[in-house]
Parts: sequence; structure tokens; C-alpha cells
Amino acid sequence: MPISLDFLSSFFLNSSVEACGLPARWTATKDFTIGELGFGTGLNFLATWNLWRRHRSGTAWLHFVSFEGFPLDREDVEQAFRPWPELATLATKLVARWPLRAKGVRRLSWPDERISLTLHVGSIADTLPQSELSADAWFLDGFSPAKNAEMWDPALWPLLAARSAKMARIATFTVAGAVRRGLSEAGFTVEKTAGYGRKRQRLEGYLPSQVSGQRPTPEGRPESGADNPDRASAGVIEGDERGRVIMDFDRHQEKSQKSQRPEHLVQGGKVAIIGAGIAGACLAATLSRRGADVTIFDRAQGPVSGASGNPAALVMPRLDAEDNAASRLLIDAYIAARNAYSGQPGIDQVAVYQQPRDAHEASRYEKVLADPPLGLECLEALRGSGLLHKGACLVRPAELVPALLDGIATRWGVEVDIDQAARTINHEPFEAIVLASGLHIASLYPWLRLDGRLGQIEYYESQLEVAPSALASGAYALSSGGLRLWGATYEALTSEGITTSDTASQKNDDALAALNPYWSKEALSADRRSRAAVRATSVDRLPVIGRLPDIEHILQTHADLRNGKRILAPVTDVPGIFVTGGFGSRGFTWAPWAAQIVTAQLFNDPMPAARNVLDLVAPSRQILRDLKRKRL
Ligand SMILES: Cc1cc2nc3c(=O)[nH]c(=O)nc-3n(C[C@H](O)[C@H](O)[C@H](O)COP(=O)(O)OP(=O)(O)OC[C@H]3O[C@@H](n4cnc5c(N)ncnc54)[C@H](O)[C@@H]3O)c2cc1C
Ligand SMILES: C[S@@+](CC[C@H](N)C(=O)[O-])C[C@H]1O[C@@H](n2cnc3c(N)ncnc32)[C@H](O)[C@@H]1O
Repeated sequence: MPISLDFLSSFFLNSSVEACGLPARWTATKDFTIGELGFGTGLNFLATWNLWRRHRSGTAWLHFVSFEGFPLDREDVEQAFRPWPELATLATKLVARWPLRAKGVRRLSWPDERISLTLHVGSIADTLPQSELSADAWFLDGFSPAKNAEMWDPALWPLLAARSAKMARIATFTVAGAVRRGLSEAGFTVEKTAGYGRKRQRLEGYLPSQVSGQRPTPEGRPESGADNPDRASAGVIEGDERGRVIMDFDRHQEKSQKSQRPEHLVQGGKVAIIGAGIAGACLAATLSRRGADVTIFDRAQGPVSGASGNPAALVMPRLDAEDNAASRLLIDAYIAARNAYSGQPGIDQVAVYQQPRDAHEASRYEKVLADPPLGLECLEALRGSGLLHKGACLVRPAELVPALLDGIATRWGVEVDIDQAARTINHEPFEAIVLASGLHIASLYPWLRLDGRLGQIEYYESQLEVAPSALASGAYALSSGGLRLWGATYEALTSEGITTSDTASQKNDDALAALNPYWSKEALSADRRSRAAVRATSVDRLPVIGRLPDIEHILQTHADLRNGKRILAPVTDVPGIFVTGGFGSRGFTWAPWAAQIVTAQLFNDPMPAARNVLDLVAPSRQILRDLKRKRL
């Protein structure tokens, strides 16, 4: 669809900004959120950013949340910005990190500029209902309603209202009667005003009173069930029903949560993180860039003493043939990891050659390739059903993690005594405490049902320096410079604890021989070492990320789940306590994405993930399942 920059720019600069009361409504202390339907080239975003640069002050952040169904290629965008020399600096920054086209949610932040971009990629009918934000202003910038009905579907307006702060302003170039009526019915006060340029009239409006709760937690929400067979009680929310059901729920949420939701973190708020593995380090870096005052505690004498301490780890996607919340979750996390690690010390870009392990996997890969979820810049087919992942990462944690912790207050060799109610660690008060301590989380909260899975890798330093390369097929073989590393075993943790074994080495060697017989010869005669560690793994193999559920309270409020009843009440959580872990075999992929989620929850920022995706990682999910199965 061709985009007239001329029209866009005059529309945006002259009318949306004015209609939404900008920049006057930007204050030095209060964060501001703009929602936009139709990201296009991102020109509105850049122009807003440019304005923000000139008018921002104090500590406030600007969050720009946009929805786009058909993301443009980087090259097209680059070209589209050429006529705008005044935006060239910002355009370069955006283009350098231009989001990939995959469906899902992308979060890009420029902390020095105190601005974030959250891009929901997918059809608006799918993405808006799954979004979580509280917009202070909306730019409705789809193509005209006549040409592009989905972007102006009346079902969107109640959803928009439910995602708006009180007195949110709204601006659009269309004055179509259906849009006016729809917005009014959803609670907006709208009026036609004089337009600009070729547009004689335009529409502006505001939301006189808040329509619904701002930040529903995912756990208690009635959900579609389609993506989560374990919680299929609420029925599928579809079509016109979607807006009504979600709004009903939002109202319910607001009533029941007002009393228990803690105030969100403000700039300089003190946060303690327990654990300096990849989970804790990514979170510390993200939170600190967002403005938190972070202290990280670890019982070890330095970082990466646990599972994160292998000499190298691989970050690659796991691709599913289906397009659902679970497959998007994995892709969102992978893209977030690529972005977060890009340019960091200890990161090599690597192409991963992935061969199927068996016929079942080969058939899955074929389905993936028939409708690839990632573009050619990330994914290609290999002869014989294999996948080639381009731009994956080989991570050397001993270099990456210290870099992430640079500037963070660290306390090594400390045994922590956590008082959840008082929110103290060893009697020191914090506004929030985040557990990122691997299997230690399981000992504190057994009902999360995290288990230890022992793993072992083998490695040595070769005389021969090579470019980074990676082979994967269940097991993996990595080389970069002189480092050669292969593995990994995956076993139940026994009473013997975390120890290396010859049996595990043999398994790894067999796997290497199958992956790369040539390299295997050198490896077997090399002066090699083994390393064992334990992965904290959840029952459904997905991580646990977010607010800590209040188990005692949930056992009361949701007791009737044991009797097969459907409970819509939201789950309660322990104020100010969070977890990030259960990363299983993919900790280096999950950690940057998890850090974005926890940071957004702490600061009450727009969520950088879809609701149905957040449900899949919510720490309360296992409690609810276990109640239903009468295990609790
Ligand atoms: C053999 C093997 C190979 C792997 N390969 C890969 C791979 O290639 N790619 C990948 O993505 N993932 C891989 N993984 C998984 C990955 O290593 C983990 O998912 C990840 O490291 C978990 O990170 P974490 O920060 O949650 O936990 P950890 O790295 O275990 O960090 C937890 C930290 O908490 C600290 N701690 C614990 N208890 C306390 C306490 N009471 N007080 C204070 N501090 C405490 C520990 O000292 C530790 O530093 C592999 C795992 C293994 C075992
Ligand atoms: C007028 S353009 C937006 C211009 C943009 N604001 C800018 O600054 O460049 C409208 C956008 O809406 C997107 N769009 C159209 N239909 C959509 C749908 N059903 N869901 C999501 N996005 C859609 C188009 O791909 C297009 O990028």
C-alpha cells in the first residue's frame, strides 16, 4: 500500500499533536503514553520523538505504542525517510534497530532519550485486544475507513477506551460518521474541527472518565483457551464479543485490585535482585537503564557461578509450525535477545545449522518452512529439511554478564534473609525484590513446581582459531576462536548433586560424533574439561516471569477450582515481590525478554508482550492448574 509522506507529515505535525494537547501535556515527572493505530514507516513516531527531544524535561519517559499489520522492510523505510533531513539523526537510530517482521511484540528503548517504542505486529483485530497499555493520547492513523475497514472496525473503540487513561485525547483525520458514533458510544467525547492541507475536517476527542481498570494481571482473566488447554474454561472470545468480554473483565479487575496493587516504581526506586546469573544480570541492566536503583545479591563470590557459567551458550529460536501464543512467545523472546545482545561484549553473531533429529522433527521443519514465521534475514532452508538460523548468538557469559552488571551495586558472598512482607533483605528495605536465583526459587516457593535438571558440557581450547560456528540437533557443537564446546546432557537431579560424570561425557561425545564426525576426532584427543550445572525447569517447560502470587490468598479465593467451577476473580500477588526464572535449557534466550516484562510491571509501563503470551509465563499458572487437578 503506498503511503503519502506528504499527507502524513502535514496531518501529523499539524493536527494530531495539537488535538492531543502536545507538547503542553508533557510534564517533567509524569510518564506519557501515546497509542497509535498504523505504524507504517514510523514517521509519526519519529516526529513525536523529535518533538519530545525539544520539550522533555525531568525524569519523565515517553512510551509510544503502535500497532501494525504489515511492517515494511528496513530498506523501504530508509528510503521513505530521505525527504526528512530534520529527522535524519533519529531515523538512523530507528532504522539501525528496525524491528523484524515476525508477528508478536517488539520493545525498543533509547534510555538516553527516555523514550520507548512498543510495536504490536499483526492484524489489529488480534493485537489490540491482547495489548496492555494506558494511553494518554491516541493517533488513529489507518488508511481511510473506506479502503481499510479492519482498522476502523467498531469493535476497536471499546478496546481503545479500556486502554486509555482518564482524559486521554484522540486524534484522527477521518470524520466518517461510523467512527464518530463508535468513539462516542465507547465513551469518548468527539468533535469535528478544521483540518489541514487537503483535509477540510478532522476529528478530535477525549475520554472524560476512565472506562476500565488499567493494568489487569493476566492470571485471573477469562481467556480463550485456544492457546492454553489447561485453562479453557472461559470460552473463546471472538469478533464483536471480544470487546465486551474484555471490558467486563477489566471492570471486574479494577474493583478487586485497587486495594492490593502496590504503587509502581518511580525513578530512583530501590530494587534488590537475588542472583547474578543471566536472569539477574539482564534484569539489573534493563531496570537500571529505566531508572531504578538496583542492588544485586549473590551468595557466590562473583557472577555466573550457576547454570549461566558455561564458557559458551547458544541463543537460537525454537520455531513451531502453528501460529499461536506459544510460538509467538518463543519468537518474541528470541528477537528480544538478539536485540539486547547486539553489540555487547561476549557476543558473536553466528549462523546455526540445525538438522532434524527424527522424521517427526523433519516434518515440523517442513511445515515451518512452508509458512516461515521469520524472514529470510533470519531463516533459510537447508538441504534435507534442515534449518539455517542466521544472526543467532553465541554467548560467552564470562564477558557478557560483567558488562551487563557494569555500574550496578553488587553484593557478593551474601546469604540473603528475605522478609517478603517488610520487603527487606538482611533488614535493608527495598521497594521491590526480584528473585532471579535459579533453583533457589524452587526451595522458597515449591508450589511453582520448578525442578532441577542436571546438565553437562565438554570443552577445550584448540590451537586452531576459527570464525564462530554452531551446529545443533538436540545437542549442539559450538566453536569460536580457539574455544570448542559441545553438549549438553539433560538428566534428573539425583542425591549425588551437581557433579560431572564419565557417563555424561560419553553421551556428549556420541552426540558430537553424530553432529560433526570430523571435529569429533580432534575433540576426543584434546585436553578437555567438563562442566556440570543445574537448570531450573518448570512443569510446562516455560519460564516463570512476573509478580509472585499470594498462594495463601489464592487457595481461598480459587478453592472452588477443585470442584470444577470457573473462577473469574483475579489472583492476588505479594506486593513488590517478583520472580524471573525456570528458564530450563534456554536461559540466554529468555533472560532479556523476561527483564523487559518485569521492568514494565515494576514501572507500570505499557506491556512489551501480548496478554495471552504473558498468561503462558505467569507464575500463578501452575497453582491454578494444580487446584483444578486437585493437587493442591
Ligand atoms: C549444561 C547446560 C548447558 C546449557 N546450554 C544453554 C545454551 O546453550 N543456551 C541457553 O540459552 N541456555 C543454556 N542452558 C540453560 C541456561 O544455562 C539456564 O537457563 C540459565 O543459565 C539460567 O539462568 P539463571 O540466571 O536463571 O540461573 P543461574 O545462572 O543458575 O543463576 C542463579 C544465581 O543465583 C545465585 N543464588 C542461588 N541461590 C542464592 C541465594 N540463596 N542467595 C543469593 N544468591 C543465590 C547463584 O549463585 C547464581 O549466581 C544450559 C544449561 C546447562 C546446565
Ligand atoms: C496511513 S499508514 C500509517 C502511517 C504511519 N503512522 C506513519 O507514521 O508512517 C496506515 C498503516 O496501517 C496499517 N494497517 C492497515 N490495515 C491494518 C490492519 N488490519 N491491522 C494492522 N495494521 C494495519 C498499514 O499497513 C499502514 O502501515
